[in-house]
Amino acid sequence: MSRNWTQSRTPAFDETGARKMNEIAKTVFAPIYPVIARNAMAATGIRQGVCIDLGSGPAMLAMAMAREAPEMDIVAFDFSEASRDIGRENIAEAGLADRIRTEAGDVHAMPFDDGEADLIVSRGSMFFWDNLKDAFREIYRILAVGGATYIGGGFGNRELKDQVIAEMLKRDPTWDCYAKKKADADSHRRFAELFREIGCPVFKIIDDDTGFWVVLSKTA
Ligand SMILES: C[S@@+](CC[C@H](N)C(=O)[O-])C[C@H]1O[C@@H](n2cnc3c(N)ncnc32)[C@H](O)[C@@H]1O
Repeated sequence: MSRNWTQSRTPAFDETGARKMNEIAKTVFAPIYPVIARNAMAATGIRQGVCIDLGSGPAMLAMAMAREAPEMDIVAFDFSEASRDIGRENIAEAGLADRIRTEAGDVHAMPFDDGEADLIVSRGSMFFWDNLKDAFREIYRILAVGGATYIGGGFGNRELKDQVIAEMLKRDPTWDCYAKKKADADSHRRFAELFREIGCPVFKIIDDDTGFWVVLSKTA
């Protein structure tokens, strides 16, 4: 499985795309981030150490993690310079610059050491990654023993999902989103195969009203 089953758009992560994402993240999507941060901690049981947010964009999830997990050091990671600039501004405005640092790079080859991350979170980004197998191999490499991931997409719960989809469709009736689609049994099977191929035997796929989330665990 090299491509993502939901890839349907040609994304632009230039300044215009980054500003658009920032506007949506601060308005329609704003309530989802604290819920997703809490869901990530509940699903993984991890609340301490280093948390890396992959494809952090405007850094709303990174900021929610900083607030919900006061003992964690947070890294907001993105390959788009425009997104990182916006993320840095948001982090500074929120007074969280001492809790969150930004890092540049591509998920397919990350500038992190083996085992550097205790918790890896990511929302709405993997649907744009070029090669899921390479990306997840790299994610598993930087995951610490005892660490876990919460990677995928969604809006946190049923109520927020309905609310966000309704509002987005009101703004733009042609709005396309992976959350409107459903991963089928074959997608689950292909993800499971991919995780076995990269040598990750302990994983869970969450596919419910919270969204579609991959929880990989690295055991000794
Ligand atoms: C739809 S935005 C989601 C932003 C943020 N996670 C959120 O939920 O508000 C996707 C983000 O993933 C980033 N991204 C996409 N592919 C990437 C890659 N291969 N490596 C690093 N970042 C990537 C984009 O630059 C963009 O900021």
